[in-house]
Amino acid sequence: MSFFDAFRKKRLEAEVDFDNLPVHVAIIMDGNGRWAKRHSLPRKSGHAMGAKTFEEISECAGELGIKIITFYAFSTENWKRDKEEVEALMALLEDYLDNGLQKLKGRAQIRFLGDMSAFSESFREKQRYIEEATKGNSGFLINVALNYGSRDEITRAVRGIAEDVKSGKISADDITEEFISSRLDTGGEPDPDLIIRPSGEFRLSNFLMWQGAYSELWFDKILWPDFKKEDLLRAIHDYQNRNRRFGGR
Ligand code: FPP
Repeated sequence: MSFFDAFRKKRLEAEVDFDNLPVHVAIIMDGNGRWAKRHSLPRKSGHAMGAKTFEEISECAGELGIKIITFYAFSTENWKRDKEEVEALMALLEDYLDNGLQKLKGRAQIRFLGDMSAFSESFREKQRYIEEATKGNSGFLINVALNYGSRDEITRAVRGIAEDVKSGKISADDITEEFISSRLDTGGEPDPDLIIRPSGEFRLSNFLMWQGAYSELWFDKILWPDFKKEDLLRAIHDYQNRNRRFGGR
């Protein structure tokens, strides 16, 4: 790290208010393909670097004191990509299921968001195992969104609620905003305070659309594999300088 980079990092750390951190930060990990192209590498190498960044940023979020961090790892639309790219992404995810527990060293709870029915039984078994094994690690939660899309999540929740109304378990009057929130994949968690999207795109791409109703959005042109701890601090610093009114004055 150059002298100026170290200086900038120190100044940022001094400016971030560690007593006023966002509770829940969510990240759209975008730009892996462009990163690979820029380095004349195959797309899968971009995803491999992206997976490394995922590990670094989840670890640093825990160290910082963020309570919940949510990563968009694979969307319901990502199946449309080339077979080779989908396979490379699945291999990275499976590697995380196999080795993630060891790397976490009991420091975080892991939860998967999304429709897991699309995955093989062995994949789902590993995913359930890691969720079960980390259940007791309270204080820091990492959500990994896989085969996730907000519209799909809301559709699944509505279907479940309709079935409960039909069977008489609940009545239509029980359906409040809080109740719907509780039936989403993030049920029981507070909404994200801050949603980060690198890579210069300015959209949510079907990510946490219900939960993100009042989230602060942070966009930057940095590509996800280049995203560092300082960039997370930069986003948090900007967030702390915003005025959140939740529709009030
Ligand atoms: C978007 O970049 C990124 C994805 C579709 C996949 C994100 C997945 C990872 C970072 C790996 C996750 C691994 C673990 C272990 C959770 P893009 O390919 O659309 O980039 P581009 O827009 O530059 O082409």
